[in-house]
Amino acid sequence: MASSSFLFLHVLVMLSLARMAFSDLSNDFYDDVCPEALPTIKQVVEDAVRQERRMGASLLRLHFHDCFVNGCDASILLDQTSTIDSEKTARANNNSARGFEVIDKIKFEVDKVCGRPVISCADILAVAAHDSLHGPTWEVPLGRRDSTTASRTTANNDIPTPFMDLPALIDNFKKQGLDEEDLVALSGGHTLGFAQCSTFRNRIYNDTNIDSTFASQRQENCPRSGSDSNLASLDPTPALFDSKYFSNLVSKKGLLHSDQALFSGGETDELVKTYSTNLRIFSKDFAESMIKMGNIKPLTGNQGQIRVDCRKGPQLTRRRRPQKAFDAPLHIGGSSSSAHASTHPQDPLSAVLKAKISPVKAAEDFYVDAA
Ligand code: HEM
Repeated sequence: MASSSFLFLHVLVMLSLARMAFSDLSNDFYDDVCPEALPTIKQVVEDAVRQERRMGASLLRLHFHDCFVNGCDASILLDQTSTIDSEKTARANNNSARGFEVIDKIKFEVDKVCGRPVISCADILAVAAHDSLHGPTWEVPLGRRDSTTASRTTANNDIPTPFMDLPALIDNFKKQGLDEEDLVALSGGHTLGFAQCSTFRNRIYNDTNIDSTFASQRQENCPRSGSDSNLASLDPTPALFDSKYFSNLVSKKGLLHSDQALFSGGETDELVKTYSTNLRIFSKDFAESMIKMGNIKPLTGNQGQIRVDCRKGPQLTRRRRPQKAFDAPLHIGGSSSSAHASTHPQDPLSAVLKAKISPVKAAEDFYVDAA
């Protein structure tokens, strides 16, 4: 009796150890099942960024907004339905998060090249964020699975706001298991991209820790009322991964209140100064913190699902036993490729991207100005 319970315990321990190992993300997760997956993602990201330079910034931000809401599980991609509480209309995302069509295109191309849906939407977000930077590179840990749910309320509560002071930002990141160094390094993501007038109006009219010439310049395109969606770049070189975001903070030219909070007499001042003059250290820390952020509560093993359409929740009628990356839905209303074809026309990118790019003309003008 004693020996059989010992054996049972032993098996239990072995199983849980195997489970732990299985649950971890790994760099080679798709190497055997679909070696073409990562180059395909890179190709689609590069095409999209070539078509519209701001898209790199937008893809980076999508991964961040995904990870901060119940972990990196692609919950941000789910559309509203009677059972899905979409995060797309949460305050930080509504009329602001962009790049969803590029993720659709990646998923379409990757499933095509892999022959079936083996790559999760959550992993696509992580890899696209990496490939979009034209900056530091690192091996992106993979093996995340996709959520079956989303939460607008959690998105409203957990994505930091541009009106936060340093203690609130530190607290916000801490809740995600990220420390002050991660906060400063990851905020360096604002070396890319743009913000709308409504997010920095209060700062340029009311903050005191702001360079007065910079404030007046920004006021020209962001009046006291109206023009809420007018854009300003988050640093002077919105298409370049450089340290200007940080040198700008040192000169009190942070665009968002939350940006300047990182250099405003608090404990993060020193690190901002370091990054402002040392792109190499910033790049290294940024890469490390991106890996840390990408590890926030991933679904692994047999948790969650691998979506066929990144915008849609559970579509399965039957599942087979999970098997590393091959854990994919079997029946999705016909073959996976025909299911895809119904949601994605032959070449969705040309149609979809072209349709969506026009509102960003203003941002493209900035790139011309900055060049
Ligand atoms: C520290 C707290 C953060 C706050 C309060 C914040 C807030 C914001 C806001 C308000 C915008 C402008 C959105 C708009 O006007 O539509 C923005 C843009 C952006 N954020 Fe953050 N952010 C934070 C951290 C991060 C992190 C950690 C990353 C990535 C690692 C990131 C990447 C970006 C990028 C790339 C853009 C430009 C997006 C585009 O041009 O489409 N942000 N952020």
